[in-house]
Amino acid sequence: MSVATKEILDLNRFDATRTEGFPPELAERVAKRQASLGASSVLFYEQPIDMASAKGAYMYDVSGRKYLDVYNNVPSVGHCHPRVVEAIARQAGELNIHTRYLNRVVEAYTEKLLSKFPEDLSNVVLTCTGSESNDLAMRIARIATGAEGFIVTEAAYHGNTALVTEISPSSLRKRKPAPFVCTIAAPAARDGMSVEANFAASIEQAIAELKSRGIGLAALIIDTIFSSDGIYADPAGFLKAATDVVHRAGGLVIADEVQPGFGRTGGGLWGFERHGVTPDIVTMGKPMGNGFPMGGVVTRPELLKRFCEETGYFNTFGGNPVAAAAGHAVLQVIEDEGLIERSGTVGSHFKRSLQALQAAHPEIGDVRGAGLFIGLDFIAPETAEPDAALASHAINQLKQNGILIGAAGKYGATLKIRPPLCFSSDDADFFTGTLDTILKARRGA
Ligand SMILES: Cc1ncc(COP(=O)(O)O)c(C=O)c1O
Repeated sequence: MSVATKEILDLNRFDATRTEGFPPELAERVAKRQASLGASSVLFYEQPIDMASAKGAYMYDVSGRKYLDVYNNVPSVGHCHPRVVEAIARQAGELNIHTRYLNRVVEAYTEKLLSKFPEDLSNVVLTCTGSESNDLAMRIARIATGAEGFIVTEAAYHGNTALVTEISPSSLRKRKPAPFVCTIAAPAARDGMSVEANFAASIEQAIAELKSRGIGLAALIIDTIFSSDGIYADPAGFLKAATDVVHRAGGLVIADEVQPGFGRTGGGLWGFERHGVTPDIVTMGKPMGNGFPMGGVVTRPELLKRFCEETGYFNTFGGNPVAAAAGHAVLQVIEDEGLIERSGTVGSHFKRSLQALQAAHPEIGDVRGAGLFIGLDFIAPETAEPDAALASHAINQLKQNGILIGAAGKYGATLKIRPPLCFSSDDADFFTGTLDTILKARRGA
């Protein structure tokens, strides 16, 4: 296929060389930001938004304009949820310290968090980000197996540390991943093989490839909803054969739950649950503190013990009392507001309405997902090739119509539909109706 692939940070990225027509104050602020943050500055949209506040599933810019948020999974239980805000503020006013004292808030949180995992996974290390969690998981896997190699999907993103960038092919602009990394295609049925059989076969090949390079398998690491690859959820259970193949080869399975975790996929708290597998290590981040920076690694005690025998590990901020208060409030809100069930029911309604839209628009190639994590592919109807330009057009037009959304996938042609879990069926209908109007207008143009 001749379509260009896209680096993850380039999806829906603002181009700082194109500020013609901007109001003078906005152009000046953008220029100042570029001057101070330099090449690492990333903003969204053809014209960036000056955001002021948010509540539930809505965000407001400085002019008071309201946007429906169909993008942000960090404030997962709803932007500025009053119970989470109150828990953070209360704890910050009581005790906010590093992690080397006994503290009842931290104890209550770790107990509640671990109660949400299969029995074997009974140790947790709290961190501050998803990247830190994956970095630690990789190091645990290497020490447990005595092997160096990792298998990841070809458009995966797992974070930003030096080690984790190596297993994030979608971040590597100018080179291929390091030799200790073997990439495989996103899950799909191919050559008469089911999704499950094909994915497992590609892992078998990757294990053989690592071996031929003289490198053993430490772990398969997968985002269990394959978000940056373009969102692949079905059929539920397809990770079973993959897990067996990895275990037979002496490797571990690391489930990166930074995106699917905390109820997003509906039907359970974790993405791996949909597949009926128990990973050896689970990593968490983003929605864990609903915006308070926190992450975590859950694993079996013997794996953590082996790691700690070899390497000291201390985290100043990971799992401090304020983080624990935030994390506890998030779990409580998910339970009290039935957000897993809501993700399932609103998500099913949303997916069905988008599939109906697909029937009316040949430029929608596929709609797939689980719960409130849905991918919608744009294609050129004549060739069926991914159409990133249409994805970009839709994203910017949706913004003009008061809806925030982003892209995903190897080609940047997939809409990543991933709103806060308090999203309603009416919100879903507003999105679907607006996208319908945009696509009709484009075809009429
Ligand atoms: C699947 C996945 N894992 C890990 C990370 C890294 O998390 P963080 O940005 O908190 O370090 C991300 C971030 O986008 C992610 O999507």
